Amino acid sequence: MAYRKVAEIFSQISGVYDRFLSLATAGQIHRWQRDLLSGMNMEGNWLDVGTGTGELLRKLGEDWRGIRVGIDPALGMLFVAKKKCPGCFFLQAVGESLPFREGSFRNVSLSLVFRHLEDKEAFLKDAFRVLESGGRIGILDIGRFRGTGVLLLLMKTLLKPLGVLIFGSDKWSFFIHSVEDSLSPEEVEAMLRSSGFSVISKERRLLGVVHLIVAVKTA
Ligand SMILES: C[S@@+](CC[C@H](N)C(=O)[O-])C[C@H]1O[C@@H](n2cnc3c(N)ncnc32)[C@H](O)[C@@H]1O
Repeated sequence: MAYRKVAEIFSQISGVYDRFLSLATAGQIHRWQRDLLSGMNMEGNWLDVGTGTGELLRKLGEDWRGIRVGIDPALGMLFVAKKKCPGCFFLQAVGESLPFREGSFRNVSLSLVFRHLEDKEAFLKDAFRVLESGGRIGILDIGRFRGTGVLLLLMKTLLKPLGVLIFGSDKWSFFIHSVEDSLSPEEVEAMLRSSGFSVISKERRLLGVVHLIVAVKTA
């Protein structure tokens, strides 16, 4: 799907996004994000790709030692993010073409974003470029797992009325497609390795529905 369409969808749901995510994950999203943060470098400039409402950057706290930057193609999400995290910098951009110089960041994170990227290889190449040596990339996402078929069935049946009520049917279909397009943690790991990263941890949550992967740029 074109960036513009994705940006439009997320901008339109920006006002209800945080509440829906907390509800849909029974609040677990906060724990998963904190777990991801704990595997990253503990200071330095931080880039959050597909930052949405900026929740991950907000969790780093106001006393974070380094600049906190979030990018997202959806302006509506960025407006919410700036209100939630006034000390952070936000830019309208996509992960596949990062508007930053080589070695600008010590951490790059993606929370629930990797499966949405149109060109994952292009993103990983650019993430490698903007990270300094020893920099880490952290990916939290819904992955393909044994129960993906069941999750999709639920989204198409039991969860559908709530999803359609909150988001509308076209957006709910978009979310179903994004789950259909999701990768297994092993596939993400292989992509990271072939982009030059060394994977240092790979964990699963919620019976394998969610994965957390941290990799480092060693070169
Ligand atoms: C499910 S939301 C996740 C938001 C936030 N990271 C979180 O954990 O709540 C996915 C976000 O990725 C953004 N996105 C989609 N395609 C993108 C791309 N190619 N580059 C960067 N962000 C993208 C969307 O606009 C949306 O804000």
